[in-house]
Amino acid sequence: MHISLHKQVALVTGGSSGLGAAAAQALAAAGAAVVINYHSQPEPAQALAAQIIAQGGQAVALGADVSREDQVERLFAQTLEHFGRLDILIANSGLQKDAATVDMSLADWNKVVDVNLTGQFLCARSALRQFVAQGMHPDISRAMGKIIHMSSVHQLIPWAGHANYAASKGGVDLLMRSIAQEVGEQKIRVNSIAPGAIRTAINADTTSGDAEDKLLQLIPYGRVGEADDVANAVVWLASDLADYVHGTTLFIDGGMSLYPGFRDNG
Ligand code: BGC
Repeated sequence: MHISLHKQVALVTGGSSGLGAAAAQALAAAGAAVVINYHSQPEPAQALAAQIIAQGGQAVALGADVSREDQVERLFAQTLEHFGRLDILIANSGLQKDAATVDMSLADWNKVVDVNLTGQFLCARSALRQFVAQGMHPDISRAMGKIIHMSSVHQLIPWAGHANYAASKGGVDLLMRSIAQEVGEQKIRVNSIAPGAIRTAINADTTSGDAEDKLLQLIPYGRVGEADDVANAVVWLASDLADYVHGTTLFIDGGMSLYPGFRDNG
């Protein structure tokens, strides 16, 4: 079974590090031209684009804050200038600003919701407009376009001390399913990926040392995930092999969402 995204253009928001960078690499390896969006640090995004190009792929790094309407519109316009079309959006940008709810500032609430939820809405809206403007191209893909929202196990699992983050991801779930219900008949496929504990910068403190042992109690499969575990699923979900997968969330979490605390309790 061979997955090819040849002739397709993918935009990965938050593509300069972590899951986004791994997804960009994997999409490029499958033959897609990749736009690597970054927020504040151009260097790693540009280095990743250069690496993809050196390996014979196509890539460009473009800056934009996904929570800003004008910047998102510019990002999509620049994507078209570079590659002429868009087939795949990976709405991946996300951040955490953790605090107990009693101590959480409105600024930290707003920041997380603005990036993790409003940012996904703004990018999905621009992608939908572009897919419709392009129309169907069966020689490129069976779908008119594909959107993958990067969610989290915390769209399902409540997370004390992270109410802003969990609320934003719960919002992503119904955003994704509502858009999917809306645009399925246009043959635009919309899905989410919900990673569990994956070793990236966002959770470096909980995935190493003693904290890792504690974390493993929450993962029935017995290991912390790697960014490629998620990137491999991104490529499959974006490809025609997943053409009948629509409006669903793929949990990639080693079983974290099985509530393993109930194994010997309840
Ligand atoms: C968060 C990680 C966390 C994981 C499991 C993810 O959505 O970004 O920081 O380790 O959920 O709790």
